[in-house]
Amino acid sequence: MLVRKTQADDLPHLFALRARTRENPVSLAQLEALGITPSSSAIALEQGWHIGWLCELDGCYAGFCAVDVRSGEMLVLAVAPEYEGLGIGRKLLAQAVATLQAHSAARIWLSAVPDPGLRAYGFYRQQGWHSVQVLSADEEIMEYASQLAS
Ligand SMILES: CC(C)(COP(=O)(O)OP(=O)(O)OC[C@H]1O[C@@H](n2cnc3c(N)ncnc32)[C@H](O)[C@@H]1OP(=O)(O)O)[C@@H](O)C(=O)NCCC(=O)NCCS
Repeated sequence: MLVRKTQADDLPHLFALRARTRENPVSLAQLEALGITPSSSAIALEQGWHIGWLCELDGCYAGFCAVDVRSGEMLVLAVAPEYEGLGIGRKLLAQAVATLQAHSAARIWLSAVPDPGLRAYGFYRQQGWHSVQVLSADEEIMEYASQLAS
């Protein structure tokens, strides 16, 4: 299992992976409607606004995550269906948190779907995140729990 920083030429593969997760898939068209494309993400990586990490297994893209070091947001975390349950999500999430902590993020947060039926729901809670605001049936804001102590 290789975990390494995301490069611009990885991005088309990672967008394809995001579109085929078992739960919560997000298509290229949905992301493009939000102004998020491989090109816009490449600029953000190049400028240092975003930092991404990916996991390769058997020479395949198994999962990835990305953070925005300006806002403290964990932007995305996705593991391919055939690689779920192997500890890749946990490893990438820890890397994302460590990256934001290294950039002295005042608040480490993410947006998720508040559906207890989704794997991500229990996963984030088990990894030390907690809900701070439910915005709608489709969106809640979660923060990393170490901030409770500060
Ligand atoms: C959520 C996701 C990232 C988890 O990745 P993963 O690689 O399967 O997770 P891991 O194998 O690293 O699991 C880590 C831990 O979470 C635990 N876990 C997973 N789902 C859980 C749940 N529903 N409740 C409690 N714990 C859970 C696992 O048991 C494991 O615990 P352990 O480390 O003590 O063994 C992955 O399922 C995914 O990509 N889902 C689709 C995309 C998505 O929803 N992304 C989040 C969008 S906000």
